[in-house]
Amino acid sequence: MRLSDVPGLTQFTLALALTAFSVPTAGAQEAIERRVNELLGQMTLEEKIGQLNLVSHGPPLRWEDISEGKAGALLNFNSAPDVARAQALARQTRLKIPPLFGLDVLHGFRTQFPLPLGEAAAFSPRISRLASEWAAKEAAFVGVNWTFAPMADLSRDSRWGRIVEGFGEDPTLGAVLTAARVEGFRKGGLAASTKHFAGYGAPQGGRDYDTTYIPRAEMYDTYLPPFRAAVEAGSASFMAAFNALNGEPSTANPWLLTDVLRRQWGFDGFVTSDWVGIGELVNHGIAADGAEAARKAILAGVDMDMMGQLYIKHLPEEVRAGRVPESVIDESVRRVLRTKFRMGLFDRPDIDPSRSDAAFPSPESRQAAREVARETFVLLQNRGDVLPFGPGVRSVAVVGPLADAPHDQMGPHAARGHKEDSVTILEGIRRRAQGAGIAVNHAPACDLFCRNTDGLQAALEAARRSDAVIAVFGEPQELSGEAASRAHLELNGRQAEVLEALAATGKPVALVLMGGRPQVLGPVAERIPSILMTWYPGTEAGPAVADVLFGDVSPSGKLPVTWPRATGQLPFYYNHLPTGRPTKPDNRFTVQYIDEAITPLYPFGWGLSYTQFAYSDTTIAQKRLDAGQMLEVAVSVRNTGAREGQEVVQLYTRDPVASRSRPLRELKAFEKIALKPGETKRVTLRVPVESLGFHLDDGTTLVEAGAIQVFVGGSSLAEPAGEAEIVRTFRIPPMERRAAVSTSVAQ
Ligand code: BGC
Repeated sequence: MRLSDVPGLTQFTLALALTAFSVPTAGAQEAIERRVNELLGQMTLEEKIGQLNLVSHGPPLRWEDISEGKAGALLNFNSAPDVARAQALARQTRLKIPPLFGLDVLHGFRTQFPLPLGEAAAFSPRISRLASEWAAKEAAFVGVNWTFAPMADLSRDSRWGRIVEGFGEDPTLGAVLTAARVEGFRKGGLAASTKHFAGYGAPQGGRDYDTTYIPRAEMYDTYLPPFRAAVEAGSASFMAAFNALNGEPSTANPWLLTDVLRRQWGFDGFVTSDWVGIGELVNHGIAADGAEAARKAILAGVDMDMMGQLYIKHLPEEVRAGRVPESVIDESVRRVLRTKFRMGLFDRPDIDPSRSDAAFPSPESRQAAREVARETFVLLQNRGDVLPFGPGVRSVAVVGPLADAPHDQMGPHAARGHKEDSVTILEGIRRRAQGAGIAVNHAPACDLFCRNTDGLQAALEAARRSDAVIAVFGEPQELSGEAASRAHLELNGRQAEVLEALAATGKPVALVLMGGRPQVLGPVAERIPSILMTWYPGTEAGPAVADVLFGDVSPSGKLPVTWPRATGQLPFYYNHLPTGRPTKPDNRFTVQYIDEAITPLYPFGWGLSYTQFAYSDTTIAQKRLDAGQMLEVAVSVRNTGAREGQEVVQLYTRDPVASRSRPLRELKAFEKIALKPGETKRVTLRVPVESLGFHLDDGTTLVEAGAIQVFVGGSSLAEPAGEAEIVRTFRIPPMERRAAVSTSVAQ
């Protein structure tokens, strides 16, 4: 069913008006605090603790728990009839407090948008907002009001399967996109729960759930900025991470949850644990039993227990025995109620149970999903300009199991995604080719995991019969996401062998690579001239990929992660520190491998277009900078090719001499611009001087006097563009907010 067929285009519009909410003004906030305290004053200890219990659909939840006030928040209630039933039960409780309905809505609800790592490759807060807003609108339509997203975990290690849920390796990109996602979700009607606080993206060996060691100054410099941006963008809640950080599990970490999040950043929403994360404190070896785990978690600042049932079981007794002050419980309940009032939950009608997500995908959501997807594709290489296919290509062979993989193209965490809604890459190519009279010869060559290559001969014949080959390979979705750490990042199964055979036909081959992380390409990068990384593109994969392959749109994505040559290079990232022995190819006693190049295959920020861009006339507005001022760098960018295209203009800096080693390069600002052939735009990138400093272990920002080198260009290989000088050293205490990065573009 389409949205236009539902007696409900107006119903949908109305639903949005009721669910979208905004950050309250100071006056409204005061009124909310009054209502919170009034309600809290009427609650029994058991009713309070019921508000701190978050339970999933199905066991251990009994429906009566809701009417008995034991489930203040619910998850995985993702249909209107279930939400309506729970709401009706909550109305039977003495105080009629409405529940939260949470779900992992990461990149779509019914309509699937690209996975967050792909979406990050668009380098566009506008695109991130658009995708999040659509995801939220569809989920809110059936009564979900809270998402366990965005994931703000920075990761420099593609072995970690969950890298697909984030924005990659850079704190500036991460902060900008995390804020955009929080805003988009809120605009679409979902409160955000930014996760996983914190350090979860740097587990040892890339193993999901494993331990993380990150010095505090490095937490402030690198891992925390995206979370702080989420606070400033109005994230309603946070989720504590599973991992131990420097030996202290995040679920019972007062430094993270109270000192940083509440005291330094002023966050006044609530924190939930991750799935049975509180009970796992026993496995972590810091609690002897469930009671101690519950006590440690709540005292550290975890307000809500996801799926552990430990708060509801143990906290009443912990309070009565005087081991947990009731004031601590009150404060946690206050945070939860404050959030519910801010979201307007007390003033909303219950959901209409006749609503169905079958209203989606709608023509509009498909259009948005296609627009977002094609902005996320990264053209990694394009030797001999195999892409886009020109008029000489009258037939294409479409090879590879992921060409026709409606389930896999949705990627992990696909909420209510139905594979039947997917337009596959094969289908997208067929539609586009049909319009242009191009023949399509399809032959998968191997099974999904490419273990069985019985179909190879048929694929080679299809290739020989065709003018060009589109090979669609990569990671089936099962190999990506939570609990999908990989020790071998080579193309899985026999994909490399199949690609080698296709290349040997002598036909031009374009590899369309799907997956949730960079994969090790080995000789494939030599043998295959054109490679387009498409991540998991979602419902509209087919039309979006066809748009780019046939040149209707130029690719404009840039890598949000460094692409390694070998798994052994990981963790690998561009913004690393200098060493005492910088790489010299002819000197073994410098930083290098004896069996692999030291460079990445493709650097951070990298991505080609079908046109070319020339950078010129870089100017630094003011070369001497003091506190409160902006580093302002202007550059002219010209489209020197024959096609329209978009470029991501990137500004990097380096502090070459400081009291502590500073990274060789750090992205500080970026702007995506569209240019017609021959057109020039002048782009001004601005960076607050405060952002050029670094942190001390207590969170103080130290900005030191001295030179700052500037680099501007279309990737992290950007050219030097001069120097500015910070005229005096100053410190900013952790409590103060820093100004946001801003940019502007002129014709
Ligand atoms: C994941 C969270 C997720 C939660 C609820 C956990 O396993 O770590 O990211 O939000 O499940 O689905």
